Amino acid sequence: MNEPSGTEHYSGVSKALHWLIALLAFSQLAMGKFFEVEADEGDSLFGWHTALGLLVLALMLVRLGWRLTHTVPALPRTTPAWQQVAARATHIAFYVLLVALPLSGWLLTSVEGDPVSFFGWFAVPPLPVPGGEASEDLIEEAHELLGNVLLVLAGLHVLAGLKHHFLDRDDVLRRMLPGSG
Ligand code: HEM
Ligand code: HEM
Repeated sequence: MNEPSGTEHYSGVSKALHWLIALLAFSQLAMGKFFEVEADEGDSLFGWHTALGLLVLALMLVRLGWRLTHTVPALPRTTPAWQQVAARATHIAFYVLLVALPLSGWLLTSVEGDPVSFFGWFAVPPLPVPGGEASEDLIEEAHELLGNVLLVLAGLHVLAGLKHHFLDRDDVLRRMLPGSG
C-alpha cells in the first residue's frame, strides 16, 4: 500500500466506499449475530445475507484497487507512534477480513450445497471446496471467528474515531465525513 502523503482529505470515492461498506458490514454482522441467519433456501434473511455479502466482496475488490493506486491523508504528527501502527494494522485487517468473510461464507454455501442468487439476477456458482464435506465445520467456525474479529476491531475503530473528534479535537473523523474537503 502507498505511504500516506500530504493529502488533506479522503477522496469522494474513498468516502463513498468506506460508508457504504461500513453500513453493509454492520448489517451483515447484525444478521449473523442477532437474527441468527441460517442456511435455508426459503429464508429471505439468508437471501439478503448471501447477496449483500457478495456485494461486499465486489465492492472490496474495487476499494482495494483504489487504495493501492491512491494516497491517503496521514494522521496528525502528534499521534503517538503506537497509535499510528495500530491504525494502520486495523485498516489492513479490515481489507483482509472483508474479503475473507464473504469468501468463507461462499465456501460454506458451496460445501452445504445451498443455492445462492445475486438478488435474483443470476445464480452464483459453487466454489470448489478443498477437503469437501469434511471441511464444513472448519469453514463454519472460520466464518464465525472472522465475524467476531471484525466486530471487535470495528468497535475499537469507532472508539478511536470518536476519541479523535471529541477528545483530541482534530480533523481525523471530519475528513472521512461526506462534504469535507
Ligand atoms: C461481509 C460479509 C459477511 C459477514 C460480516 C458475515 C457474517 C456472518 C456472521 C457474524 C454469521 C453468524 C456466525 C455465528 O456467529 O454463528 C454468519 C452466518 C452465515 N453466513 Fe455470513 N457473513 C458475510 C458474508 C457471507 C456470504 C457472502 C455468505 C454466502 C454466500 C455467507 C453465508 C453465511 C451462512 C450460510 C451463515 C450461517 C452459518 C450457520 O448455519 O451457522 N455469509 N455470517
Ligand atoms: C465495520 C465498519 C467499518 C469498516 C470496515 C471501516 C474500515 C475503514 C478503513 C479500511 C479505513 C482506512 C481508509 C480506507 O482505506 O478507506 C477507515 C478509515 C476511517 N474510518 Fe472506518 N470503517 C468502519 C466504520 C467506521 C465508523 C462507524 C466510523 C465512525 C467513527 C469510522 C471512521 C473512520 C475514520 C475517521 C477513518 C479515517 C482514519 C484515518 O484517517 O486514519 N469508520 N475505516
